[in-house]
Amino acid sequence: MSNPDTQAMQGKIVLVTGANSGIGKETARGLAKMGAAVVMACRNLTRAVSVCEAIKRESGNAQIEVMQLDLTLLRSIREFVSQFRRKYQRLNVLINNAGIMCGGGGETEDGFNIVMATNYLGPFLLTNLLLPLLKQTPEARIINVSSVAHLWGRIDLNDLNLKKRFRFGGAYASSKLALIFFTQELSERLKQTDITANALHPGIVATDIYRIGPKGSWYQAVFRKMLSLVMISPQDGAQTSIYLASSDDVRGVTGKYFYKLNPSFVSPKCRNIQLQKGLWQLSENLTGLSDASPG
Ligand SMILES: NC(=O)c1ccc[n+]([C@@H]2O[C@H](COP(=O)([O-])OP(=O)(O)OC[C@H]3O[C@@H](n4cnc5c(N)ncnc54)[C@H](OP(=O)(O)O)[C@@H]3O)[C@@H](O)[C@H]2O)c1
Repeated sequence: MSNPDTQAMQGKIVLVTGANSGIGKETARGLAKMGAAVVMACRNLTRAVSVCEAIKRESGNAQIEVMQLDLTLLRSIREFVSQFRRKYQRLNVLINNAGIMCGGGGETEDGFNIVMATNYLGPFLLTNLLLPLLKQTPEARIINVSSVAHLWGRIDLNDLNLKKRFRFGGAYASSKLALIFFTQELSERLKQTDITANALHPGIVATDIYRIGPKGSWYQAVFRKMLSLVMISPQDGAQTSIYLASSDDVRGVTGKYFYKLNPSFVSPKCRNIQLQKGLWQLSENLTGLSDASPG
């Protein structure tokens, strides 16, 4: 790995969700080393504070801070945004990185499937509430960490939260497909601005996302074992996020899906514009976006 340019992100404010672990942690670390002020938006604060201190020590960059955010709770997202807006008048880069793979069909207090809430509906609301700040920042960038798993996703506007039809891995794949539709629609809606929105697949990365709990099934263990044959390190997995956040090569590039620093192909399902617009409308309704005041 080449040495990062320690000036490249000087003066930029970057918000990374799920920055206390895996790809998010390495993304925060990489951008801190490039001089960015990094806000780590995390649920588990104990882990976040210790990662934050380590990044500060290692990068020599003191402008790293932790703020609490639980993407499964609409009230936590609103509270986070109102605190963020009290502290900051701009936001150069928003990286929607946090995600989970398995939620066992669990539901959030807002009645959403827990995987869909964490990976898609939460980031949908967070991004929209931060848009006023992004709009007042020159050339702001929005980066959504999706996955190749979107290829297996399926969006049913009558059952976005998979209450009628739950299957192992289905919520994850569908949430990552939703994130690509979101990226495309966002980039379309922001056409008249200089904000860009792109999605990415980080690769198959050795992180806690594949951790199998005590109640894990044999097929999860087999799946994990097979993937471990092709896994890359979290540091390598963070490279496309860091590239999209910092490189001049992608100035003005928007609405794309990247893999290994290059635009890549998305599922033909992502061409369904009617579904894309329907999903946006449904997500606005579910998250209460139209009547949500960021405070
Ligand atoms: N690893 C891969 O092979 C791979 C492949 C494709 C895409 N991705 C995507 O990459 C992203 C990062 O995942 P990772 O592999 O680095 O996994 P990870 O190490 O498990 O990190 C996931 C992060 O998301 C956070 N998070 C989970 N639920 C949250 C919530 N409700 N509110 C706020 N933060 C929450 C976790 O924080 P807590 O400590 O609070 O749980 C953690 O920091 C995810 O979006 C994932 O889908 C990963």
